[in-house]
Amino acid sequence: MAVVVITGCSSGFGLATALAFARRGDSVWATMRNPADAGGLSAAVEAEHLELRTLPLDVTDDASVKAAVDHVLEAEGRIDVLVNNAGVAHMGAVETLGIEDARGVFETNVFGQVRMVQAVLPGMRERGGGVIVNVSSMAGRLPASPANWAYAASKHAAGALSDSLAEELRPFGIRVVCIEPGFFATSVVRKGRPLPSASPYTEMERLIAGWYHANVEMGGDPADVAQAIAAAVDDPSSPVHVPVGPDAKAAIQAAATMTGEQWADVSRKVYGLEA
Ligand SMILES: NC(=O)c1ccc[n+]([C@@H]2O[C@H](COP(=O)([O-])OP(=O)(O)OC[C@H]3O[C@@H](n4cnc5c(N)ncnc54)[C@H](OP(=O)(O)O)[C@@H]3O)[C@@H](O)[C@H]2O)c1
Repeated sequence: MAVVVITGCSSGFGLATALAFARRGDSVWATMRNPADAGGLSAAVEAEHLELRTLPLDVTDDASVKAAVDHVLEAEGRIDVLVNNAGVAHMGAVETLGIEDARGVFETNVFGQVRMVQAVLPGMRERGGGVIVNVSSMAGRLPASPANWAYAASKHAAGALSDSLAEELRPFGIRVVCIEPGFFATSVVRKGRPLPSASPYTEMERLIAGWYHANVEMGGDPADVAQAIAAAVDDPSSPVHVPVGPDAKAAIQAAATMTGEQWADVSRKVYGLEA
């Protein structure tokens, strides 16, 4: 039985991952920034007679991270698996997306992961084991689209931080996995900030945001991502980078065979932008 801490469990992948580990009988600490949003998770837990515990945790807040990790360590004595899942997606062009919104994306998607890693690592190192799962995106492996620079940059950063961390932790027997999902049907785009106010980029921003929104709405089942996370945690020979979903695998493979210019040409047609 592993002690598993997951961030961002109010919806989407976090909720599905909490259920997946609870179904295996692991000791799951499903954290979320607002425990009042635990309704969906609690209903599923009750319906399946599962056991898990919820805890408040805002990954952008040092004190909140420390309090949650200390609480789990006091209760369990250890953390075996950290799933760094919490994430936000605020869209907008480089000129129009407010610095505060862009900073918010990095505070959650990048520094949120770093905060959690720094909080759990002393215990993992002391015990000489553990698995850290950073949820990135296929966006972290592809050239960024227009109007999505902050999210894409944060996911490229999550990939880079996973690469560094994997090598840093190898001597301590701690594994790192970077999960790179394609499109899955969650609230990630809906929960993003409204697009920036009217500007010369508005038409482009709307087109691109609409494209992402439609693809996420038609995306796969978040339970598949939860299964991929559980499988990577179980597999001692898992690669660091794990694309999830046929779209992610195909896009990452295609990008590796194309020049940046070729990718941009194809992408403009896919988004419906003028040549
Ligand atoms: N869905 C996709 O197609 C897709 C594809 C690739 C990668 N991803 C990534 O998958 C991860 C999960 O997203 P999702 O798709 O499952 O979307 P989601 O349903 O919107 O879940 C995002 C979760 O992160 C939480 N969160 C946001 N800011 C937080 C903070 N400061 N502290 C703690 N929790 C916070 C949200 O909580 P609140 O309810 O409080 O907002 C929510 O529980 C994200 O990292 C996302 O970038 C998603």
